[in-house]
Amino acid sequence: MTMTETNTRDWVALEHQYYQGTFKRMPITLVKGQGVRVWDNNGKEYLDFVAGIAVNVLGHCHPAVVEAVQQQVTQLVHVSNLYYNVRQIELAEQLGLRSNGMRSFFSNSGAEANEGAIKLARKFGRVHRNGAYEVISMERSFHGRTLATTAATGQAAYQATWVPLPDGFKQVPYNDLEAVKQATSEKTVAILVEAVQGEGGIWPASREFMQGLRQWCDEQNLVLICDEVQAGSGRTGKFFSWEHYDIRPDIVTLAKGLAGGIPIGAMLTGERTDLFVPGDHGTTFGGNPIACAAGTATVKTIINDNLLDNATKMGEYWNGKLTQLCATYPHIIDSPRGIGLMRAVHVNNGLASTIVQKALEHGLLLNSTSPDTLRMIPPLVLTQSDLDEAADLLSRAIADVADLPAANA
Ligand SMILES: Cc1ncc(COP(=O)(O)O)c(C=O)c1O
Repeated sequence: MTMTETNTRDWVALEHQYYQGTFKRMPITLVKGQGVRVWDNNGKEYLDFVAGIAVNVLGHCHPAVVEAVQQQVTQLVHVSNLYYNVRQIELAEQLGLRSNGMRSFFSNSGAEANEGAIKLARKFGRVHRNGAYEVISMERSFHGRTLATTAATGQAAYQATWVPLPDGFKQVPYNDLEAVKQATSEKTVAILVEAVQGEGGIWPASREFMQGLRQWCDEQNLVLICDEVQAGSGRTGKFFSWEHYDIRPDIVTLAKGLAGGIPIGAMLTGERTDLFVPGDHGTTFGGNPIACAAGTATVKTIINDNLLDNATKMGEYWNGKLTQLCATYPHIIDSPRGIGLMRAVHVNNGLASTIVQKALEHGLLLNSTSPDTLRMIPPLVLTQSDLDEAADLLSRAIADVADLPAANA
């Protein structure tokens, strides 16, 4: 389909007619992507600092992903998990090499990966902790949209409509080790944590907290689960964000960036919790050859093209740009934060979504996780000149809102 053809129908009206009203969309229809850029159906170009919400770690249509998918689609599209599958084993090997030997289970999304982790932790509770089943997770966390992962998500707004939620979940304040200790009981089996909270607004955990959680789990015979769905796959400058803390969790979940844009989820376990036996868990599509071929291509590219270093260097450069913008517009933005290419700034007039809208008009895709938080999670392949351009576009968007009344006044 050419750009002109995609412009002959009213996609917004058609969506309203045929698609459920689940998403609050930005007013553009995207039809093409290349590297760190996407184009809408009118041919307008955007620098993409949303990247499919941390999915497009290699940018759009990276040749390694395109080639892996093209080759695989002509060879074997799908087989059941009743059979061995070369692509699945290759990706599991890559992840094992990155995690000091963890073993993988593949699913199709982050929520599913977390469901698997919760089930595995419950099995640990049944086998090793007198049937303990409760999972302690963090306030402001996000773990998915299934009922169990909604129950694990520490944000009331995501939970309110769906009560009663599954039993066995409890939230405590992030970075508060004492609160975790207080909340632990004989029912507790696991602690579920994002080493860098993503949907909550880009909040890295403190070193004391992550190391304290590891120690507490060891002392109490609990399972430490790290949700790496957003912060994993190289985004923070390490393949797993928990590597920044010199700890190793028992269970790790991945999704989003793992296959460079092809749907996938992964639940990894170390030896201590490697308890699933045939029949305990399963999936029809998880570990699909196309997704896994794309996953292996993505992981190898992240490592071989030094994208971990690039995420660190570009992240620091971007942080410098954000610091300059905060100094230029102190009444609008402040407190740049984050790690690697997972960054945010505080918006102090509640106008984050207005800045997002203005940035879009200027050709920069951003998103806000709340009225006071602008989030930037661009592809790991981006360059200094992309960041210079993004800083210029963001500066124009902020200038546009400089004289607007505060949203929360
Ligand atoms: C940390 C984290 N966990 C889990 C999920 C859920 O992933 P999915 O939307 O693929 O189910 C997300 C999605 O934003 C996430 O950021």
